[in-house]
Amino acid sequence: MDFSRNIIITGGAGFIGSHVVRRFVTRYPSYRIINVDKLTYAGNLANLKDIEDSPNYVFEKADICDFDRMLDLMRRYNVDGIIHLAAESHVDRSIKDPFTFARTNVMGTLSLLQAAKSVWEPSGWTGPEGQECRFYHISTDEVYGALELTHPEGVKSEISAHEVYGDTFFTEDTKYQPHSPYSASKASSDHFVRAFHDTYGMPVIVTNCSNNYGPYQFPEKLIPLFINNIRHHKPLPVYGKGENVRDWLYVEDHASAIDLIFHKGKVAETYNIGGFNEWKNIDIIKVLIKTVDRLLGHPEGYSLDLITYVTDRKGHDLRYAIDSTKLHKELGWTPSLQFEEGIEKTVRWYLEHQDWMDNVTSGDYMKYYDEMYRS
Ligand code: NAD
Ligand code: DAU
Repeated sequence: MDFSRNIIITGGAGFIGSHVVRRFVTRYPSYRIINVDKLTYAGNLANLKDIEDSPNYVFEKADICDFDRMLDLMRRYNVDGIIHLAAESHVDRSIKDPFTFARTNVMGTLSLLQAAKSVWEPSGWTGPEGQECRFYHISTDEVYGALELTHPEGVKSEISAHEVYGDTFFTEDTKYQPHSPYSASKASSDHFVRAFHDTYGMPVIVTNCSNNYGPYQFPEKLIPLFINNIRHHKPLPVYGKGENVRDWLYVEDHASAIDLIFHKGKVAETYNIGGFNEWKNIDIIKVLIKTVDRLLGHPEGYSLDLITYVTDRKGHDLRYAIDSTKLHKELGWTPSLQFEEGIEKTVRWYLEHQDWMDNVTSGDYMKYYDEMYRS
C-alpha cells in the first residue's frame, strides 16, 4: 500500500505518545505511522492494543541514541515527518540519575536530528512526494523555570478561566531557566532542535506543554499514583506543604494540539500549550480523594487521613503557568474539556482498568511483549 506520508512518532508506547499514535493512526489512514520506542520501564505496548493491528501502524523497538538505527529507519520507511516524544520524563528519577536523562533527552534528540538531516538535507528538506519535511519536538513548560506564588490563596484573572496564583505566566519569550536535571536536559534538546533550523535550515517546530493527565500515565506521576493509593487505602506522599502549583491539561487535548501544530504550525516557531488551569497540589489531591471515595461508595472524607506530608522534592519548582494565547490566536486551538470533566473521566478510567494498573505496578507488563520485542 502506498502511503501519503510516513511519520515517525518516537516514544509512542509511553503516556502522551500512545495518545498521539492512536489519534494519527485512526484519523489519517493514508499516513503510515512508525512508532519508534525503546520500551523502557515507561513504555508499554498494551497502551496501544486497540490499534496495533491497523494496516497503517508499524512498531519498531529502537533506542533513539542509536544513530545507525535511526538512519536506517528514516531510509527504509521514506520518512518525511518526525514527532519526537521519546524521553526520560520523571523529575524525581532525574534527581537520582541525571546521566540517563542527558543520554536520552540530549544525545538521543541529537542522534535523531542528525539522522533526519542526513536524509532530508540532500533532497532540499522535501519528502518523496515533494511535501515539506518536518521535525516536531515535544517539550515541556519546565524549561522556563519556576514562577512566583504572589497569590497563595488564588485570585480571579482576565487571562484565565480559573483562579491564578501569580501575576506572571510562561510565554514563548520567557527566558529558559531550568532547575532540575530533567528540565535542563529538555532545555538542551530544545536548543539543539532550534540550532538545526538556524544552522542547516531544517524545518522544525518546538512546543512546550504544561502537566498532562489522563489514561495510561505511568503511576509514578502524581495523579495515577494517588488514585491507585486511594483505591488501596495507602498513604499519599505530599511533597513539602503541598502548595506547589501546576497547570493541568487533559492528555487528549495535548494530542489535538500536536495534530493541529504538526499540520498547520509555522516552521521555526515555538508554541506554548496549556489550558489556563492552575491547581495547588493539595487542592488537586482533595479533588482526587473526593472523586475516588464517591465512585467507590465510601463516605465523603473517608480517605482524607491518607494525606501524609513528606520531605520536599529537591529544588521543587513552586509554580508553573502556561500562557497559550499564541496557539489560540494563530491556530484557533482550545482545550475541549473542563478540568472537572477531565478528572472525573480520568479517575473512572483508572478504576475501571485495574488490570492495566496491576500489570504496570507489578511489572508484569514488562513481560507482556518480551518474546516479541524485549531483549
Ligand atoms: P513517558 O515517560 O510516559 O514515555 C516516554 C516514552 O519514551 C516511553 O515509551 C519510553 O519507552 C520511551 N523512551 C525512553 N527513552 C527512549 C529511548 N532512548 N529511545 C526510544 N524510546 C525511549 O513520557 P510522557 O509523559 O508521555 O512524555 C512524553 C514527552 O512529552 C516527553 O518528551 C516529555 O518531556 C514531554 N512532556 C510531558 C508532559 C507530561 O505532563 N507528562 C508535559 C509536557 C511535555
Ligand atoms: O510541567 C510538565 C511536566 O509535568 C512534564 O514535563 C514532566 O514530564 C511531568 O512528569 C510533569 O512534571 P511534574 O514534576 O510537575 O509532575 P509529577 O506528577 O511528578 O508531580 C506533580 C506535582 O506533585 C509536583 O509539584 C510534585 C508533586 N508530587 C509528586 C509526586 C509523584 C507530590 O507531592 N508527591 C508525589 O508523590
